[in-house]
Amino acid sequence: MTTPTIELKPSAHPLSDAEREAILASPGFGRHFTDHMVTIKWTEGRGWHDGQLVPYAPISLDPATNVLHYAQEIFEGLKAYRRPDGSVATFRPDRNALRFQRSARRLAMPELPVETFVEACHALVRQDQAWVPAHGGEESLYLRPFMIATEVGLGVKPANEYLFLVIASPAGAYFPGGVKPVSIWVSEDRVRAVPGGMGDAKTGGNYAASLLAQAEAAAKGCDQVCYLDAVEHRWVEELGGMNLYFVYGDKIVTPTLTGSILEGVTRDSLLTVARDLGYEAEEGRVSVEQWQRDAADGSLTEVFACGTAAVITPVGTVKRATGEWQQSGGEPGEVTLRLRRALLDIQRGTAEDRHGWMYQL
Ligand code: COI
Repeated sequence: MTTPTIELKPSAHPLSDAEREAILASPGFGRHFTDHMVTIKWTEGRGWHDGQLVPYAPISLDPATNVLHYAQEIFEGLKAYRRPDGSVATFRPDRNALRFQRSARRLAMPELPVETFVEACHALVRQDQAWVPAHGGEESLYLRPFMIATEVGLGVKPANEYLFLVIASPAGAYFPGGVKPVSIWVSEDRVRAVPGGMGDAKTGGNYAASLLAQAEAAAKGCDQVCYLDAVEHRWVEELGGMNLYFVYGDKIVTPTLTGSILEGVTRDSLLTVARDLGYEAEEGRVSVEQWQRDAADGSLTEVFACGTAAVITPVGTVKRATGEWQQSGGEPGEVTLRLRRALLDIQRGTAEDRHGWMYQL
């Protein structure tokens, strides 16, 4: 694999300090973008080349560009955090890089070397450091690396040209309510992914597939849709864009990776953080019937969603076609909040990084 260098071509007209500060005061999620982006091309026979850090701008595509028709696209999400001393660090970018390679293999795309992925993210954060929100709040800088097939033509085949990009967006809470519990609609007919499909790849198609069920969840008054497995329609898989954890007293359980669940970096990190805090943490199968029953008899004490964007968000009301129940009295649970605090403390640099997860710039 070739490892291109990234040539800097900084913007002559970045946003003014006042404009940037106004955005950072209330960034929302995914609404504002920093002054620059990274682009790297891949061409068959040549490999990765033309790495550039350039002003953030629209990209121009021929209407017959492959990705616009057959959705050969993958992406990642990771964050950069401001530490108490003012420096900046990213959280486990190597894990995102490795998942990006797995997604690329599944979508018949070229693999970007791990060090190029990490360097591309870091080059952008270094350039746009002023966009990393201040230490102490919920905010961070969300990085969105992605790759698209750029060959022009309507033949259905792996493209012979690709474009890798990284853009960055200052981010507050993904859900407008912050750590307020979200409500979940369990979809028992629509599925997100099937065995042998691409559910474990981070590709836009999985998110497009989730939108109708997500709209149905919203019509039921819920914030998020929860998917069951595609074969028996009973095993809990994940939400539209995040993983799930079930808390049984001092034990936390997350659905086992079956090939149709996305392997979340936050999901993985929590197995370790929970064990560090003295909890039992395991992967296992949880059925929707068990969820309803264990919530009713009180053995299931808390449920939470997790992901880079969502961090850790408690689950409150759960609805399915045959019933509705309230998790943890609709309040954020104690274990959920403890895990959330422990993970954020590592990410923001106020707790020891025992596992070497933080990459200081
Ligand atoms: C992330 O958590 O980074 C994701 O990609 C999920 C998306 C719903 C924002």
